[in-house]
Amino acid sequence: MGSERGARRACGRLDVGDVGRDVRLNGWVHRRRDFGGVVFVQVRDRSGLVQVVFDPDAGELHQRGSELRPETVVEIEGHVVARGPEQINPEMATGRVEVRATRLEVLSCPEELPLQPAGMQLPSEETRLRWRFLDLRREPMRHALAFRSDAVRAIRDVLHREGFWDVETPILTRSTPEGARDYLVPSRVQRGRFYALPQSPQLFKQLLMVAGVERYYQIARCFRDEDLRADRQPEFTQVDIEMSFVEPEDVMDVVEKVLLAVAQLAKWQITAPFQRLTWDEAMNRYGSDAPDTRYEMLIEDVSDGVRDSPFAPFRRAIEEGGVVRGLAVPGAAGFSRREIDGLTEEARSLGAAGLVTFKWNGEVVAGPAVKVLGESAARELLGAIGARQGDLGLFVAGPLGVARRVLGTLRKQLASRQGLIHEDRHGLCWVTDFPLFEYDEESSRFFACHHPFTSPNPDDLELLESEPGRVRARAYDLALDGVEIGGGSIRIHRPDIQQRVFAALGISREEARERFGFLLDALHYGAPPHGGIALGLDRLIALLLGFESIRDVIAFPKTTSAGCPLTGAPSAVDREQLEELGLRLTGAGDQGAGECSR
Ligand code: AMO
Repeated sequence: MGSERGARRACGRLDVGDVGRDVRLNGWVHRRRDFGGVVFVQVRDRSGLVQVVFDPDAGELHQRGSELRPETVVEIEGHVVARGPEQINPEMATGRVEVRATRLEVLSCPEELPLQPAGMQLPSEETRLRWRFLDLRREPMRHALAFRSDAVRAIRDVLHREGFWDVETPILTRSTPEGARDYLVPSRVQRGRFYALPQSPQLFKQLLMVAGVERYYQIARCFRDEDLRADRQPEFTQVDIEMSFVEPEDVMDVVEKVLLAVAQLAKWQITAPFQRLTWDEAMNRYGSDAPDTRYEMLIEDVSDGVRDSPFAPFRRAIEEGGVVRGLAVPGAAGFSRREIDGLTEEARSLGAAGLVTFKWNGEVVAGPAVKVLGESAARELLGAIGARQGDLGLFVAGPLGVARRVLGTLRKQLASRQGLIHEDRHGLCWVTDFPLFEYDEESSRFFACHHPFTSPNPDDLELLESEPGRVRARAYDLALDGVEIGGGSIRIHRPDIQQRVFAALGISREEARERFGFLLDALHYGAPPHGGIALGLDRLIALLLGFESIRDVIAFPKTTSAGCPLTGAPSAVDREQLEELGLRLTGAGDQGAGECSR
């Protein structure tokens, strides 16, 4: 029977070259319109839409065509004809032709739909995720799936061309420290023991370098139990890369080739090499370690000019070892009192004592601090931050970290509010020389900025014990339009240095042995110098397609409470299953919050 039916054609690919052909279409009814007795049905498959016409003189076929409901699965045979000049639809890829139906078979009849894929209104995200298989029929979702598939293929092509091997690493494994909580899986066979799902394949890819693989990559699923946001999922995908005998530039070069390939798919104009900033430069000028370089609005340091200022908050900040930094907001001199109060509140919520503002309106410079400073000093400060007439000057006085954080956050918010971000421009930027450690005031200890396997800068080695906070890492992140899309580093390949870094992190020899003994062993048996990176694939695809949330580029994502409305995961499990695992829930029947005990 298959051979009698003729070859199936993709709906979205029919064009004038097909006029005169008999075709078979398989797909879903997208929309139906009855117009002057003629029935027009848009049929959709994953390639797109085409219009099928049921003529009134086709008798029973016309009747059945007029009863087709949206999302009915059909097989249609027909004849491709050119549309008259009046009927051409330039909005539709197949808008110059239509198919005159000669046969219709209904393959599957839908019930009342909870979500209309052809509907104009976007339902709530909860509904979309509950009925994801219907949501994925919508055009933007279909496009996202297709684009992601093409992008992964392009990435693989580049990496294979560059000599990388695709190697899979375990999912049931031990904890990999990347700064989040682990997802744990209890072992049935070894009661009381747990696997951790990998937060990244970090340790395995390093072991592969010790094994002599030299160039590894993996499109790797990672699992992190952390607070979720639009750009974070509990399970997400990395383009994970590791290379032996390399310098940071070699890793960056490969990544730039990967980025150029996917940008081309999205029809983005980008050029390599990408901009490079040290972490210090990024923090000082952009107030962020993932700077958005699509617009200027750079932060300026005015500390030197205000050392002897009559304005006490400025003077005091410098006396106390802090800084005074400012930012010019183009065209914002007309901000209302309420808007300025809003900015001040935001600055306070980020830790600043206050926000000093100068409005440069016409010839006049105004602001509460002008009275104390005098207008000429205020003008000088505005000049120092590159402000012009019509701009608003913002200044923060206080500890360096606070000034960076506050001005970096306001810079981002105000650039968007002032329409300074050109959507067709893109900013790719490497941030290098991160600090190796970050000090946490609350727990009074150092944490690894990236992970504990990151190599210190050899010039800073002698500071590891004396001033760990000043040690720079051989780490690099990649930011795209102000979003961190990748992070990597040259690794420690010498056991003695690894031991010193663990010590600086307060990880004892015993604990290091217990948690990472297998890696330490490997470092003793001929580890090559190596380094790598991981790109966040979901974030990259979302940015390339202009989606706000990575959930839109993941087929079956989780909600912000880490649940899946479609499958109902996470779900309760049978008592027997728990018993088999040697687990018991405590917490009075509250399955969600129950503690586990053995
Ligand atoms: P890192 O932790 O920086 O590095 O992760 C690399 C990139 O992965 C993306 N990413 C995420 N995407 C979605 N949801 C999440 N929860 C999430 N967490 C991270 C980000 C990030 O830049 N092992 C190292 C890499 C290396 O050193 O080679 C690592 O995992 O885009």
